[in-house]
Amino acid sequence: MLNTPPLRRLRRLRSSEAMRDLLRETQISLSDLIHPLFIEEHISHAVPISTLPGISRLPESALADEVRELYALGIRYVMPFGISHTKDDKGSDTWDDNGLLARMVRTIKDTVPEMMVISDICFCEYTDHGHCGVVHHNEVCNDLTVENLVKQSITAAKAGADMLAPSAMMDGQVKAIRHGLDAAGFEHVAILAHSAKFASSFYGPFRAAVDCELRGNRKGYQLDYANGRQALLEALLDEAEGADILMVKPGTPYLDVLSRLRQETHLPLAAYQVGGEYAGIKFAALAGALDERAVVTETFIGLKRAGADLIVSYYTKQYAQWLAESH
Ligand code: PBG
Ligand code: ZN
Repeated sequence: MLNTPPLRRLRRLRSSEAMRDLLRETQISLSDLIHPLFIEEHISHAVPISTLPGISRLPESALADEVRELYALGIRYVMPFGISHTKDDKGSDTWDDNGLLARMVRTIKDTVPEMMVISDICFCEYTDHGHCGVVHHNEVCNDLTVENLVKQSITAAKAGADMLAPSAMMDGQVKAIRHGLDAAGFEHVAILAHSAKFASSFYGPFRAAVDCELRGNRKGYQLDYANGRQALLEALLDEAEGADILMVKPGTPYLDVLSRLRQETHLPLAAYQVGGEYAGIKFAALAGALDERAVVTETFIGLKRAGADLIVSYYTKQYAQWLAESH
């Protein structure tokens, strides 16, 4: 029988809302959230994405209005993804100053100069085979792809991107992009490296969203999800190559990686809550199985508690609307 009362009663710290608010260790606000956008060229109406209910592909002509609306809601960071009708075997539209990527960046910066544009730097939405680079003999060729990533990065920076988020998982991409940007006079443009990007089935809804008909898979360049130590190696290499921020992707199934990385670096960290994570919550909420706002908030706090300073999430706009409603 336990007859000595506990000396330390942690429930004292949970005794009222004021007490809980005082002691909360982790906060989430709109300054932590980056909103991805899907922009399709050559269409005239928004197309809802069936795998991501609540999210649509917007026509390019609607981008300016959307950005104004997002900014009015308090969102200050966007990551545009293009849905291209101008695909080829290399993704050369991405380094055309009049290509979709450059046009999206310019439209956003011309409409709301204060909106920070974080440009995804990759090729899979712009290649006819759906891979993240140049394919030779059924392999994505690392060094040729890196050369093209540098061209794409300079094009995005010239168009006004504030930050670049290379996501192709090619070796040496961060270093090459950093040198390329600096040599072209864009030393102020930051790099948010997709450092630990796992070959994940949670990307399924996204691939449907961007019409990526991938032949094969990405296991030859994205991380094996069984490998936590290798993920840390990738991230520390990106730090050494000059990355400004390191990202772990997907988010929720990889909290251990985020938390270990937090112990190994002093750089800011990001987490990408990917399409499959969004879809899992959204479809459950649509079925009435959970309280959507509460669950979304809990996942954001979980990602931040594990070590993320910032989060890319398809829930950003919805979250901003919830905040606006409860004011
Ligand atoms: C491709 C890219 C992917 C995502 C963002 N950029 C997926 C992939 O590697 O197929 C996934 C985002 C998501 O699933 O929400 N460079
Ligand atoms: Zn890609």
